[in-house]
Amino acid sequence: MEQTTFKTNKIRGPINSWIFKNLDGYMNFLFKKEKKKLFKNHPDTVVEIGSGAGANMRYLRAGTKLIAIEPNVFMHNNLKKNAINHGINLEIRTLTGESIDLPDNSCDFVISTLVLCTVSNPAECINQIKRILKPSGVFVFIEHVKAREGSILSYIQNIFHKPWHWFFEGCNTNRNIGQLLKSGGFRVLKIEQYNLYSPFIPITSQIRGKAFK
Ligand SMILES: C[S@@+](CC[C@H](N)C(=O)[O-])C[C@H]1O[C@@H](n2cnc3c(N)ncnc32)[C@H](O)[C@@H]1O
Repeated sequence: MEQTTFKTNKIRGPINSWIFKNLDGYMNFLFKKEKKKLFKNHPDTVVEIGSGAGANMRYLRAGTKLIAIEPNVFMHNNLKKNAINHGINLEIRTLTGESIDLPDNSCDFVISTLVLCTVSNPAECINQIKRILKPSGVFVFIEHVKAREGSILSYIQNIFHKPWHWFFEGCNTNRNIGQLLKSGGFRVLKIEQYNLYSPFIPITSQIRGKAFK
């Protein structure tokens, strides 16, 4: 297993945590309908990669155990507060998605929303998700992705990429996550590609779906 180190900036780390906390209502407005569908009938224990400030807890039943793989310690306070607000039994693991310490074939339900854009080795993170999933388990995701090559949106993504990557601590506006998932060797992969209606133009090209090992 890859031992990936995670570095967060002393200034941008807390700022990002504050931003995600304060964007929570807007993110809920954008994603509510699809997240409700994706997370429907989730089991009592759920693993989430890069939980951030805990935006997905509102879609989990009260009493759910959430194992949050969140390497950024600046996110942890908001995660804990959200867990109390939503009645979630939270276990934080300060690890990267590339170095998950859960056993093989042990998880029924793994979530990633807006995370594979940021992990430093997405192929390894996908590999780890697949490793920990039970054969009957499901991986659900919503990610922003590289727009169609040659489109205006892809041009905008390329312009914004560097400052975005710097400010949002490693987030890539133009990563081909759909392709990475297709190369991940899942038995079944359901991907829907769409454009989000939002002023955050560089991240409006998105995918959502499910993968089965
Ligand atoms: C854009 S935020 C998304 C947070 C949350 N999933 C949401 O939908 O609001 C990306 C999150 O991924 C986390 N992250 C960054 N690198 C990571 C890695 N290598 N493994 C796991 N999480 C990572 C960041 O700390 C941050 O919390």
